[in-house]
Amino acid sequence: MILAITGPTSGIGEETLKALVKKFDKIFILARNDNKARQLIQTFSPNTQEKIQFIQLDLSDLKSVEKAAENILANTKVIDVLINNAGGIFQKKELTVDGLELSFATNHLGHFLLTKKLIPVLLKSKHPRVINVSSEAHRAAKIDFNNLAKCQNGFNSFTAYANAKLCNILFSKSLVDHYGDQGLSSYALHPGVVKTRFGNEAGGIFKVMWKLAEPFMLTPAKGASTSIYLATQEISSKLNGYYFKSSKPNTPSSTARSKEMREKLWSLSEELVTNK
Ligand SMILES: NC(=O)c1ccc[n+]([C@@H]2O[C@H](COP(=O)([O-])OP(=O)(O)OC[C@H]3O[C@@H](n4cnc5c(N)ncnc54)[C@H](OP(=O)(O)O)[C@@H]3O)[C@@H](O)[C@H]2O)c1
Repeated sequence: MILAITGPTSGIGEETLKALVKKFDKIFILARNDNKARQLIQTFSPNTQEKIQFIQLDLSDLKSVEKAAENILANTKVIDVLINNAGGIFQKKELTVDGLELSFATNHLGHFLLTKKLIPVLLKSKHPRVINVSSEAHRAAKIDFNNLAKCQNGFNSFTAYANAKLCNILFSKSLVDHYGDQGLSSYALHPGVVKTRFGNEAGGIFKVMWKLAEPFMLTPAKGASTSIYLATQEISSKLNGYYFKSSKPNTPSSTARSKEMREKLWSLSEELVTNK
């Protein structure tokens, strides 16, 4: 069994990786920071280290995403589980090298392109799964498709994050629309409120509230449990495309369940990765 995971160098991703290394024969860890990735690999036993391959990936740069996918395609014929875990909330409006708003690019579009490129090897698996780490923050989303990618009409850090996390749920469901009949399963999840480096780059009232909540937060190991569940357990085909919380299906917002919204997001994402 072969796993690929983004954002394994910290928090929930790191704990997800630690729990899954024993269960997979080969693991691609996709990270933007060479040093962190290499240090992470050193924490495993020599036998485990042999199973892990580092792939350079900056999700906020579409060329880097394309290169990472090509690198994986050159190194494997199949991927069984892809965990799109990396993400973050950002204090200021920032545009990426592709001219896209950073939260949208990092949390959604980079993963959209990565997944699309890996579809051929995912579909070679007997039971391929794509797991997208979303958030309950999606319930605060206010998506305007004319403003989503470039954010030209004002910026609010939390709304930008909420919008991107809504995209994660819409994307999971779209993957089932497009590839479910070829055997692909896809799920989105909320990991809980978890004490990680998440929020360090945020500012204002969000940062204050987040700091206050710290004593009540889950450990990263607990925060990884729904990702681990979705990567390893047998899940009824009736739940394909669902959103999970505490390892159980949960009803996301009505917008997250809208077919029209997910079709619009898919078209916009296709357009952005094609005309980059
Ligand atoms: N913590 C929570 O309470 C919470 C709640 C709901 C959802 N989530 C979601 O859980 C996921 C994991 O977050 P976390 O809490 O574990 O936060 P974290 O400790 O900040 O970890 C984020 C990971 O994403 C990576 N990353 C960020 N930007 C990237 C980029 N441009 N390219 C490649 N990798 C990038 C980071 O890499 P570096 O190590 O190089 O920075 C790190 O490995 C995120 O999708 C987040 O939205 C978290």
